[in-house]
Amino acid sequence: MLVKHLTLASFRNYGTLEVAFEPGINLIIGPNGQGKTNMVEAVRYMSVLSSHRVAGYQPLINSKANSAIVRAMVSSEERDVLLEIELNREGKNKARVNKADLPRIRDIIGIVQSVTFAPEDIDIVRRDPTNRRAFIDELVVQHRPRMAGVYADYERVLKQRNALLKSAKITKTTGSALSTLDAWDASLVQYGTEIVSARLNIAQLLQPHLFDAYQKIATSNNEPRLVYRSSLLVDTAGLLSDSPDVAEDLAGGNLENLDRDAIAAMFSAKLAEIRPKELERGITLAGPQRDDIVLMLGELPAKGYASHGEMWSYALALRLASIELLKQESRTGDPILILDDVFAELDAGRRLRLAELIANNEQVLITAAAEEDVPAILTATRFAVKQAVVTRV
Ligand SMILES: Nc1ncnc2c1ncn2[C@@H]1O[C@H](COP(=O)(O)OP(=O)(O)OP(=O)(O)O)[C@@H](O)[C@H]1O
Ligand SMILES: [Mg+2]
Repeated sequence: MLVKHLTLASFRNYGTLEVAFEPGINLIIGPNGQGKTNMVEAVRYMSVLSSHRVAGYQPLINSKANSAIVRAMVSSEERDVLLEIELNREGKNKARVNKADLPRIRDIIGIVQSVTFAPEDIDIVRRDPTNRRAFIDELVVQHRPRMAGVYADYERVLKQRNALLKSAKITKTTGSALSTLDAWDASLVQYGTEIVSARLNIAQLLQPHLFDAYQKIATSNNEPRLVYRSSLLVDTAGLLSDSPDVAEDLAGGNLENLDRDAIAAMFSAKLAEIRPKELERGITLAGPQRDDIVLMLGELPAKGYASHGEMWSYALALRLASIELLKQESRTGDPILILDDVFAELDAGRRLRLAELIANNEQVLITAAAEEDVPAILTATRFAVKQAVVTRV
């Protein structure tokens, strides 16, 4: 799959931009702050409806404008599709395919498959669970676009349920007045179970690719392994601590071998068990929003134990494994690869190994401030970016 042509209007620092990309490696070079990341962020946004550096979409709209357009001619297996996203400061965002409006903007997810590498990827390994959930959820949704709806439903139910718990805490409501909570619990369990099952499934599919990718990118052999750590298995005391230490309660069992009904039953039981605590706290204390995907390296979690180099190898291996997984499951060829300023982060050895591993992908968009950071084996179509003006060089 590839982007043949990209049009931007009032996206980030761009007024209007028209750029034609080529198959293979596209190298986008320019000094800091000119618009390199902005350009690839637009392609990524079209694929997964999220930015790799900011939550929400408001920052994507030019500060002097009220709406932004991203339009791309994408091609897979010789078939061209024209995709368009319209972001509005006020009012609904829209998505179009071949000029026809989609019912919901999220219906565009899954048409373009992509994998983004960025300097922030190391946070997946070393920082809090939010980063790991974002990684796994993005993969879930690309693999099964229908799941985007389930995530949206879950978010909505969770918000409502939290609002109810919060007001119950304030007004000290008890007993029958809380019967509405039961109704929310059923939906929370339904959507939450789908999310947990989908994550477990994708982690299992990713595992063999992760193992292979790690051996290819790292300097020493070691075994990376994903362990799903669910809030459904943590005892109430653990749920109440704000930063439960993963390493300590890994022995808490696992969900890997449970089917959907068993997970749902466990979720319901957990909610019943913790209800007094939830009323006391005024917030939902269990569910996929509190889970973690522990990244094990050998016998220890990478977070808190792995070296800086090992963390980078792990982060790269997660992305490389994602490429293989999406490729294997897709009928539209290779995902588009976006490497935003990553070579600058890596030592010479990892740079070269990464370059070798991505060199033959159908299309790769690479940004760099210093061209010499990008290994010479990557023969590329080159673009220069200066103050939001892009020229092929
Ligand atoms: N919504 C916006 N409206 C106007 N300008 C914006 C908006 N968002 C970002 N910018 C500007 O876009 C400029 C270019 O940003 P970008 O991140 O693309 O730079 P870059 O070329 O990737 O630089 P670096 O090499 O430092 O990564 C920044 O100076 C930023 O202030
Ligand atoms: Mg940048």
